[in-house]
Amino acid sequence: MDRIRCEKLKDKIVSAEEAAKLIKDGDFVGASGFTPAGYPKAVPLALAKRVDEGEKIQIDLMTGASVGPELDGVLSERGIIRRRYPYQTNAPLRNSINSGNIKYNDIHLSHSPQYLRYGFLGKMDVAIIEAVTITENGGIVPSTSVGNSNVFVECAEKVIVEINTSQPLSLEGIHDIYSPLNPPRRESIPINKVSDRIGTTYIPCPLEKIAAIVITDIPDKTNKVAPIDEVSRQMADNLIKFLKSEVDKGRLPKNLLPLQSGVGSVANAVLGGLCNSDFTDLNIYSEVLQDSVIDLIDCGKVKTASATSLTISPDRIKDFTANFSRYKDHIILRPEEISNNPEVIRKLGVISMNTAIEVDIYGNVNSTHIMGSKMMNGIGGSGDFTRNAYISIFTTASTAKDGKISSIVPMVSHVDHTEHDVMVIVTEKGVADLRGLSPKERAEAIIENCAHEDYKEMLWDYFNRAKEATKNSHTPHILIEGFSWHERFMKTGTMKKP
Ligand code: COA
Repeated sequence: MDRIRCEKLKDKIVSAEEAAKLIKDGDFVGASGFTPAGYPKAVPLALAKRVDEGEKIQIDLMTGASVGPELDGVLSERGIIRRRYPYQTNAPLRNSINSGNIKYNDIHLSHSPQYLRYGFLGKMDVAIIEAVTITENGGIVPSTSVGNSNVFVECAEKVIVEINTSQPLSLEGIHDIYSPLNPPRRESIPINKVSDRIGTTYIPCPLEKIAAIVITDIPDKTNKVAPIDEVSRQMADNLIKFLKSEVDKGRLPKNLLPLQSGVGSVANAVLGGLCNSDFTDLNIYSEVLQDSVIDLIDCGKVKTASATSLTISPDRIKDFTANFSRYKDHIILRPEEISNNPEVIRKLGVISMNTAIEVDIYGNVNSTHIMGSKMMNGIGGSGDFTRNAYISIFTTASTAKDGKISSIVPMVSHVDHTEHDVMVIVTEKGVADLRGLSPKERAEAIIENCAHEDYKEMLWDYFNRAKEATKNSHTPHILIEGFSWHERFMKTGTMKKP
């Protein structure tokens, strides 16, 4: 009761089962949550129960980004999710996407809130938002993520709030909620340095929109972070050496520029590597803050870390929550429309560091598809940051699947980040700085510096044959199968089978 400070809303408290009844078959539902932090748990579980009891319910689901098993897992296992936006990391959901049972639209995270505001995705029926408290005026104070919650509250017909008592009340104050207007009334976003605060500490919401409040204490099920292995450590070393050389050349200030780091164990290791570096007074302008940022704050290296979610691994969350006051002044959580905003990223000069599944010899990056066909997670914010970064960097181990696959390939099987956006590739073998290089120079740098020795010879062989086959053309490729119909067209002037 203490967590609902608005007297008029106290009679909105209902059970999760009652709240779940507000969701109808065919509804478009928005849920808080980002990389899985701050997502609703009790209401989705109650929705699944209705289906277990025989009801037929299917919904279209949009979140900030990936959410935990109580939402994506439980609902996809029961066939409740019909359509999903904009990012996910859940295994059962991924399987349903790859078997064609869920329609998945993988969207740049900075685009996703405006898709909704502009009406591109239709009208949202219900928003379910996890919060730590509701203020006197009905403002919703989110928990460990903001994601798209502010936009869901703006756009949805009704709002269900899940007050989660496992989330510390001391989170109040770290959020900075700001919603830009739609064009043509949009103005520039007034963030000029990472620590700038431009909005409110709560999501404003008209009282009449709040249809139900549910109290729960189910904790966030964040992902485990793999221990830092030798390959990750080597990648981190290579990256830090590269950043140091940029400082030496006068292209970066001594404390670097604001850093963005992607998701996953490698990204965590790379950022964690900065703890043992000489860099100090760092700033982070990213979308997710993982364990490594906590370490960087602990070792006094980080001034301000701005993101849209705080995802601390299960082993460390208890300690982090107990000592939250140590971190509070260093952390700002913003809507993903702001954390991933191209205008702000370009203005601050963010150094982006994301992970690739595979990279081709010309610098195109695949971050999303295994073997070109199977969706892994999604593009997330990697495109938002890469296209607009001061320096865009991709890291990947030189091989995958215990060395059976080279992560450096002649042509990526799916393109997320084109050669025009990607500036630097880092593997455990070395660094390829692609800035200013022609495609053939890029190929030489990537094969020589980044490929694993087991695959180097094969890559050189492909590159040399491609040069020969195309008479040394601009971007040499031997396009045999996928593009043979182009050749057919050129030869016959018709698309019909010759
Ligand atoms: N070929 C085939 N499989 C590959 C592969 C390749 N070249 N490279 C990686 N894989 C497989 C791994 O074997 C692993 O498979 P598994 O789940 O069966 O074990 C899986 O892909 C994930 O790889 P892993 O090494 O565990 O990566 P990670 O946890 O560091 O995540 C990405 C890497 C690319 C999947 C992840 O960073 C991602 O989703 N990125 C896109 C979104 C993004 O960048 N968001 C951040 C923006 S701020």
